Amino acid sequence: MTTRYRVEYALKTHRRDQLIEWIKGLLAVPFVLHSQPTAVFEPHHEGSTEKMAAIAHRRYAEIMRDVEALINDHIAHQRAGTEQNSKLKLLVPAVSKFFTPLLLHDAFVYQDTRRFISHRRFVAPSFNDVRLILNTAQVMSLVRAGPLDLITFDGDVTLYDDGQSLTPDNPVIPRILELMRKGTRIGIVTAAGYTEARRYYERLHGLLDAIKQSDMPQDYKQNLIVLGGESSYLFKASGTEEHLLDYVPRPDWILKEMESWTDEDVAELLDVAEAALKECVKNMRLPADVIRKERAVGIVPTAGRRFAREQLEETVLVTQKILEMSPVGRRLPFCAFNGGNDVFVDIGDKSWGVLACQRFYGGIEGSKTLHVGDQFLSAGANDFKARLACTTAWIASPAETCNLLDEISELDAAVQRK
Ligand code: IMP
Ligand code: MG
Repeated sequence: MTTRYRVEYALKTHRRDQLIEWIKGLLAVPFVLHSQPTAVFEPHHEGSTEKMAAIAHRRYAEIMRDVEALINDHIAHQRAGTEQNSKLKLLVPAVSKFFTPLLLHDAFVYQDTRRFISHRRFVAPSFNDVRLILNTAQVMSLVRAGPLDLITFDGDVTLYDDGQSLTPDNPVIPRILELMRKGTRIGIVTAAGYTEARRYYERLHGLLDAIKQSDMPQDYKQNLIVLGGESSYLFKASGTEEHLLDYVPRPDWILKEMESWTDEDVAELLDVAEAALKECVKNMRLPADVIRKERAVGIVPTAGRRFAREQLEETVLVTQKILEMSPVGRRLPFCAFNGGNDVFVDIGDKSWGVLACQRFYGGIEGSKTLHVGDQFLSAGANDFKARLACTTAWIASPAETCNLLDEISELDAAVQRK
């Protein structure tokens, strides 16, 4: 039973996104009924491809419109305080709060002109198709509702490749500058936890130098902050020659609720986490170094080694469970996550990080904030918690982040033209 329980539940459910899987399942029906795989070996099939694609397109689009309506109904329930009773909640129990409607029909039409989903005969609408449609639906809704006040970005895999830095040649730089010129505030909400501005400058220098050199007004240049260690350290862009990032003392930015996170509890939680990590290292004979910081503890592979995916997942799940069961883990928010080739436990999480950015800029709402990240699985992923604070977009690479920002710019231009 233990094995079955672990394989079916503990290891699998956190690797699936219920909403995406459910939409994928709905789209599979018209795919099965209308795709024509046999046509590829039949003569004169050219015309039939377009006919098939038109029918599949119509059916997929209808489904997306229906899902859009179910989400609107869920939002109406949220407003009435009865979201537990919505039909969507019954169908997809994992759904939580929607900060805005999602324009799924229009987003599907948009993505179908790029990915030609309806033209496919052998490959049904996939997880990635649905993920990208959801991202487009989210930005369509945000942009059509007026200017986006705040975009927060994760660092690794979202702005630059895992473990790398944001160098001057990174194509995301002009796109972020364009947003800043329009008055959008930027937050970089990363797990990378350093106490000194210099370390963040090293990771982000391409962007920070470009902001300094740009001709945008001085006060716009200051509209970028870095929240490191998920929600632990805040630095503000100064836009001046001497310091490109200024440290903001904790009392100047933390939320009221964070005042109760005592140093004793922080130390106790990190002790429990460190013991759990060491237990995993011992059990699985991991070639690991333990790194203990002021507000984080993690394991990284010894030089030249890598952890297997299963070892990373096992370590995260064991550590998270032990922390959840501990008294201090019930008092203090924490985030245990799989960083691709390391496992870290941080104090706080990205929901607090995003909330702190919103507050720092004077109280920006969740419906006017977008968090872009790569880690949205429900366990062992650190961007997931941002969903509690704002709208989100789930990207899979820095190139997808650029595509998303281009979509925002395109949609914004279309709204301005109207
Ligand atoms: P993110 O994708 O920007 O959230 O960065 C996650 C990565 O930052 C992790 O995978 C680690 O490699 C690295 N990192 C460096 N310092 C810390 C820390 O204090 N806590 C968590 N991750 C850290
Ligand atoms: Mg990341």
